[in-house]
Amino acid sequence: MLLRVNYLLAALLVVVVALNIVFGRDFSQPHYELFADMKHSVAYDAFSKNSNFASGQTMQSPVPGTIARGEMPLHYQPTPDDARRAGQELTNPIVSGAKGDPLAKSEARGAQVYARFCVACHGGGGAGDGPVALRGFPPPPSLLTGKSLQMKDGQLFHILTYGQGSMAPMAAQLRRPERWDVINYVRSMQSTAPPRAGESKTSADAPAKPDESTKLESES
Ligand code: HEC
Repeated sequence: MLLRVNYLLAALLVVVVALNIVFGRDFSQPHYELFADMKHSVAYDAFSKNSNFASGQTMQSPVPGTIARGEMPLHYQPTPDDARRAGQELTNPIVSGAKGDPLAKSEARGAQVYARFCVACHGGGGAGDGPVALRGFPPPPSLLTGKSLQMKDGQLFHILTYGQGSMAPMAAQLRRPERWDVINYVRSMQSTAPPRAGESKTSADAPAKPDESTKLESES
């Protein structure tokens, strides 16, 4: 009896070992997939081979001569001359007085952009006294009293797109509509700023508009 059990167990062992060899799994390969339809999409992956196209690739280059929506090419160089030319040629797409007051909405969006991307250097009130500037970064000129008052919107757009001096380009951070929004916000700051009376503005501006910096904190 006992012997028969041993034979049985030995046979079982052989079967298990054999099964293991037959169905043994290569750990360098993916496991068996029972319902693989979720894992492998029917659509071609962006970088997968694709026999439907002559190039054999799934991703295709844009058709020559076409422009992707919202990607109108800008033909400017990062030079002061081209910044001035942009001032002549580029017009602010947001017009005031239209239905639904798009300018007010744009300024509100621009205030958010300003609080996130400009306050660090230009300061909450635009006086050029942001925390980065106070700690040694070359302080930017005041947006309220400086040259930007005289610059056309298109020139500010050029500065935001290509940078100016020690200010880096912001094109990678801000899409074009956001750049116009923040320009509109800067304009609204300039128009509501107290009249230019001497040079004492810098210190007077900082406490006057503390709301931008607090907005930044409460929203992140
Ligand atoms: C890293 C710091 C920094 C950040 C962030 C920054 N700026 Fe500047 N900005 C500067 C400096 C410095 C200058 C002066 C550059 C120069 O002419 O040498 C400047 C110049 C400008 C000017 C031109 C002013 C003039 O009188 O010539 C404008 C307009 C401007 N910045 C707007 C913005 C806006 C809007 C943002 C946010 C989207 C922004 N900047 C973000 C540092 C910064």
